[in-house]
Amino acid sequence: MKMHPIITEEEIRHRVKELAVEIRRDAIGIEPIFVGILNGCFPFLADLIRHLDITCSVEFMRLRSYGAATETSGVVEITADLSRSIVGKDVIVVEDIVDTGLTMSYLLENIKTRRPRTIRVCTLLDKPARRRVELKLDYVGFTIPDQFVIGYGLDFDEKYRNLPFITAYEDEKPV
Ligand code: IMP
Repeated sequence: MKMHPIITEEEIRHRVKELAVEIRRDAIGIEPIFVGILNGCFPFLADLIRHLDITCSVEFMRLRSYGAATETSGVVEITADLSRSIVGKDVIVVEDIVDTGLTMSYLLENIKTRRPRTIRVCTLLDKPARRRVELKLDYVGFTIPDQFVIGYGLDFDEKYRNLPFITAYEDEKPV
C-alpha cells in the first residue's frame, strides 16, 4: 500500500517541538495537567511532553463521537473519565483533531463544571472549514483543509493510528 504523507514525520517532529516551546512559555509558575483525549492523542501527547522540561502531570479521558463513519454524530459520550480531581488546577486538553468542534465544545463544558483554574486546548490538527461551534484553540499544530486524514494517532475505523506521518484517506483507501 503506497501512501503519500501530507504532513511528514519530520514536519510533525519540528512542529511538536515548537508547540512545546509555546506551552512552556505560558506555563511559568504553574504545573499543568495534560488531559489527553483517547485514543487519538497518544503519539502526539507522548512526543509533546517529552519536549517539556516542566513539572506536569497527565490524565486521560476517552470519548465516543465517531463510529466507523467519517462524519461526527454530534453525540458525545464519556467512556473513560479522569482519575482525580482537577479543582483549582491548570488543565491543557490535548486532542488529535478539531473538526466540527462539537466534541471539544461538549468536553470543555463538561471540564468547566469540575472547576479547574484554567483550561487551555492543544490540538495537533485543526480543520476549521467544518466548524459548527465557536471555539478558542490555544495551541494548534497544523491547520488542514477539509479532508479526512489518518496516521500519527488518527484512525479510520480504528486502523492506521500507527503511521508515523499524516496522510489523506479518500475513496475507501489511504492515498
Ligand atoms: P469533531 O467533534 O467533529 O470536532 O470531531 C472530533 C473527533 O472526530 C476527533 O477527535 C477525531 O476522533 C474525529 N475526526 C475528525 N476528523 C477526523 C479526521 O480527519 N481523521 C480522523 N479522525 C477525525
